[in-house]
Order: sequence, then structure tokens, then C-alpha cells
Amino acid sequence: MKKEIKTIGVLTSGGDAPGMNAAIRAVTRSAIYNGMKVMGIYRGYEGLINGEIKELTTESVSNTIQRGGTILKTARSVEFTTVEGRKKAFDKLQEFGIDALIVIGGNGSLAGAQVLAQEYDLPVIGLPGTIDNDLYGTDSTIGYDTALNTIVECVDKIRDTATSHDRIFFVEVMGRDAGFLAQNSAIASGAEAAIIPEDQTDVDQLANFISRGFRKSKSSSIVIVSESKKDGGAMYYADRVRREYPQYDVRVTILGHLQRGGTPTAYDRILASRLGYASIEALKEGQRNVMIGIRDDEIVYIPIDRAIKKDKPINQDLIDVLAVLSI
Ligand code: F6P
Repeated sequence: MKKEIKTIGVLTSGGDAPGMNAAIRAVTRSAIYNGMKVMGIYRGYEGLINGEIKELTTESVSNTIQRGGTILKTARSVEFTTVEGRKKAFDKLQEFGIDALIVIGGNGSLAGAQVLAQEYDLPVIGLPGTIDNDLYGTDSTIGYDTALNTIVECVDKIRDTATSHDRIFFVEVMGRDAGFLAQNSAIASGAEAAIIPEDQTDVDQLANFISRGFRKSKSSSIVIVSESKKDGGAMYYADRVRREYPQYDVRVTILGHLQRGGTPTAYDRILASRLGYASIEALKEGQRNVMIGIRDDEIVYIPIDRAIKKDKPINQDLIDVLAVLSI
């Protein structure tokens, strides 16, 4: 018989993402509503290993839904990747009477949750929290929409200079090995091209853009480049243009961590609230080892090992739309 879940632990792990606080709030309030106790684990798995754990109440999550970052803080723990580290983590869960764990984070964080769940037969629920949107099975991850809007706001500003000076700008955006931020920010900002890791055809994406996108009647241009190492990043393309097309005036902007911060959009707050609420419903239903996602506006449960395979596809429509609209 399955043990009744009386106390849950919640942590955020990996890169912070706007909306994580809304998720913590939703998990906390939904759990309390269902008569459970909630323990907040600080600094991700690192804090779990060190016992940085404090009870969360309805009040302790007040006034947080609008705040970026994570009130629980976050970390990327090296120790947790070891068997010994995970043993320490599990001992702490037992010491604090935690029966189930809710992990809010990206790929690596959910992978960690999965290993812990398997080694110790622990009920674990994952919530997709990353600006990268690279978890399979959910249309969107918590933080992605906010980051996308931040990028678009920045590119709108860069466009003023690009146009005034007749320049080509290569704007590098985050996303790790996924091109969702790059592709969609390019569409939303009216950029001339996006260079993304998913587009691994033999076609030289730069030559393609120069010949197709940068037509004679356009004297300035913006190319959004995914940070993925597979493509070489914005610097690589700028250097190539300087060498191969010296007639163009080129600049690079790397947006960096400003993409991760800031007030979450309404979309991210609602998404995080729904997923947080659903995580408690899932535990009540006896779900284990699943990530809660959203697909066509419906809550779905995806086995964590499926969600973290790093094979979420980019819709070909998005590539076609940009190609046609940027001519
Ligand atoms: O996964 C989120 C993310 O912001 C990626 O887009 C980026 O590659 C990485 O984290 C940066 O990590 P850090 O903040 O540890 O430098």
C-alpha cells in the first residue's frame, strides 16, 4: 500500500526563471488547502544536502506572484550528481519527514529528481521551470514567455540603432541547445533571420541569409542567433561577415542574463499557478515520477524520463513563417 503523503518538500533548481515564485506559491497553497505540510528547500539540491529547509505557510508566499527569480534560491549542485550526495539528500528528506518532492527546474534538475526517485522509491513531481522551453511534452515552460517578451523588447531597441546606422546586428539569445527563444523572438521582433541549432541542414545559414534575407532594399538587418555551441554563436557569424562580406557594418549584442530576470508575464504567472496546483492534484491521484505540462491548454502528465530527452521539436511552421515574412 502506498504511504499517505502528509508532508511535501518543494525546491527550485538550475537557472532561475520568472514565474518560479508563482509556482512555489501555488504548490504551497494547494498543499495546505489539502491538509498537507509544506517544507521549502533552499538553494536546490545543494540546500537539500545541507538541510537548508524551512516550513512554508500561506503567508510566507504572500506578495511573491509578481516577483522574478526564486524566493527559495537556486543552485546547480555538483555533489547531488554523486551517489553519496543523493544519499545525504535522501537522509535529509527523512530527517524532515518529507514524503514527496516537487522539483521546479529545467532538464538537469528534473533528471536529478528522476534518479533520486528511482534510487529511493520517492514520489517526485517535476514542474518545467526554464526559460529555454526545451522540455518535451509541454507547450511552454515556466519563464519562457517572460524571457521571450524581454528579448523582443531589447531587439526593438536595437532595431533603432540598426536602422539609423545601416548595420547588421547579430543578437545572441539564450536557450542552451534549443532554438525556441531565438526562432520565436525573431518572428515577434520582425528580425530578418534566426540561426538555431535545430536547423542542422547542410545549408550554410549565414550565406543563406545574406543571399535571401538581406536584400538590396534593406540597409539594416537583425539576425537572432541561438547561443548553442553547435552554431558558434553571434561572434562567429559577425567575424564571418567581416571577412566574407566586408561591405557590411556589423555589430554583436549578447543579451545574456537580463533574459532570465524580471517580472513574470501574466501568461507565466497563470501557467505556473496551474502547474503548481496540478502537482498536488497529481500526488493525490497517486502519480509518481511525472512532469506536469500543458498541451492545448490542458494539463498533462509526462514521464520525467520522456520529458528530459532533449528532443522537443521546433514546429516547421515557425521556420516557414519567418522565412516568408522576412523577405
Ligand atoms: O537553462 C537556462 C539558461 O539560462 C540557459 O539558457 C543558459 O545557457 C544557462 O542557463 C546559463 O547558465 P548560468 O546562469 O549558470 O550561466
